[in-house]
Amino acid sequence: SCLSAAGPRTVLLASPRSFCAGVERAIEIVERVLDQRGAPVYVRKQIVHNSHVVRGLEQRGAVFVDELDAVPDGATVVFSAHGVSPAVHAQAAHKGLDVIDATCPLVTKVHAEARRFAARGDTVVLIGHEGHEEVEGTLGEAPARTVLVQNADEVAGLEVEDPERVSYLTQTTLAVDETAEVVDALRERFPALRGPVSDDICYATTNRQHALSAIAGESDLVLVVGSGNSSNSARLVELARRAGTEAHLVDDAGDIEAGWLAGAGVVGLTAGASAPPRLVSAVIAALGGLGPVTVTEREITRETVHFALPSAVARR
Ligand code: F3S
Repeated sequence: SCLSAAGPRTVLLASPRSFCAGVERAIEIVERVLDQRGAPVYVRKQIVHNSHVVRGLEQRGAVFVDELDAVPDGATVVFSAHGVSPAVHAQAAHKGLDVIDATCPLVTKVHAEARRFAARGDTVVLIGHEGHEEVEGTLGEAPARTVLVQNADEVAGLEVEDPERVSYLTQTTLAVDETAEVVDALRERFPALRGPVSDDICYATTNRQHALSAIAGESDLVLVVGSGNSSNSARLVELARRAGTEAHLVDDAGDIEAGWLAGAGVVGLTAGASAPPRLVSAVIAALGGLGPVTVTEREITRETVHFALPSAVARR
């Protein structure tokens, strides 16, 4: 019956979804360092915000640490895709660590903007979520000149040195529409506001949001595969809910609750940029275990972005 979790049902598969180029590169860096240098390989913070990726690399000999204090002097350490502040680079140099930096090139670009904007004397307003590793890294580029703003409401209370000299930057994994509202509020208060060419939300974040927007309204339920600390995955869940569709974040197929599926004849499915594609396949297989499933993929664009590996690991 339509009130049980049993099928038949349609799965609308959003595309693009799952791994972005920065995540693929970061994982490949750790795998190559493990191959080339052997275990243990220290990694500062989760290489990407996905519990399955982290567990898989741990099984191969990666040792994840929160801070460099936990890394023996002279060891090899990989920095995560989210980037680090200059203070972390300095600490690594002080400890004689061999650093292999897996920071996504699109995060590195934001760091360069932070330095450039601060150097011309601007107050840099960083739009992002307090406590996120990427935000901590970007803030660290010019800590005395940078202020964090989390939403449009916080713009009114901002204090800047010179309202004529204000620039903004953003975290790469924010909601496209909400960020535009914050930038509008900033521009209203500081008409001379300057910023990056568009914003710093990356292509992968943007594409995954647009792809989900294209199917959320037609779905009875949206499932987003991703871990709880994944910013871009959380934004996908919020986006579906703003579209009026029940939505849940699942770390894997085991998190799906039968109650969500009752009456859900059309399930929209996507995955955050740090969630492996095989977990999406496993969700489809799990739904298939409840009854016949028709999978329809809705591709809004094809991603061709690829980032070169750092020279230290480029050759096998
Ligand atoms: Fe980079 Fe965007 Fe992925 S900043 S790590 S391409 S989500």
